[in-house]
Amino acid sequence: MSRQALVVGASGMLTGVARWLAEQGYLVTLVGRDQGRLAQVRDGSLYPQSFTLLPLDYHRTDHLREAMEQLIGENRHIDLVVAWIHQTAPDALPTIQQVLSRPNKNWSLYHVCGSKAWLHPPIVQEIASCTYHQIILGFICENEQKSRWLTNNEIAQGVIRSIQSQEMQSIVGQVEPWDRRPSS
Ligand SMILES: NC(=O)c1ccc[n+]([C@@H]2O[C@H](COP(=O)([O-])OP(=O)(O)OC[C@H]3O[C@@H](n4cnc5c(N)ncnc54)[C@H](OP(=O)(O)O)[C@@H]3O)[C@@H](O)[C@H]2O)c1
Repeated sequence: MSRQALVVGASGMLTGVARWLAEQGYLVTLVGRDQGRLAQVRDGSLYPQSFTLLPLDYHRTDHLREAMEQLIGENRHIDLVVAWIHQTAPDALPTIQQVLSRPNKNWSLYHVCGSKAWLHPPIVQEIASCTYHQIILGFICENEQKSRWLTNNEIAQGVIRSIQSQEMQSIVGQVEPWDRRPSS
């Protein structure tokens, strides 16, 4: 039976991760609000048949819970989740964790966080069946004067490296020296 992955926030910087998961043999469910953008992720893959689109707004917790319940219905099990969720939706990640943990089988959560997580780590529920991995998106110091944020490609490659290494915490780019963090 194929392994199943869920990518939340799938049509932006995680596009390359979603397509890579399909290449690894996963069946991949994509979450984002705009169905057209999700379809572009699928249609740009060599394995479009591996994708299911799940357009929803993760601020709407009831909708999200219902969608997650449908996802694990009929004895399905999600093996791996990659989640990039804006801080405006604090209930989204706990909702996903609670529902996907119900089958009581082990699964892995790769939580993609902004650079501020370095100084202020997010509080995440501990659930026995959910192995939590944190990925902090840092920045790049190009020289003594210049620093910049990561590109989508750097982010996607960094997330893929983290999934391959299964590290508990990984940093894409750098977070120190903190005062070199780009201002905008
Ligand atoms: N440290 C760094 O260097 C760093 C960190 C973060 C971001 N960035 C850069 O900043 C750019 C913009 O960031 P971004 O946060 O807009 O990320 P993004 O990955 O470009 O887009 C956000 C993703 O989440 C989905 N999404 C947004 N709100 C949603 C909601 N309420 N419900 C469900 N899905 C939702 C979006 O699809 P829909 O809009 O269709 O819902 C999209 O798939 C990125 O492309 C990245 O390059 C850099």
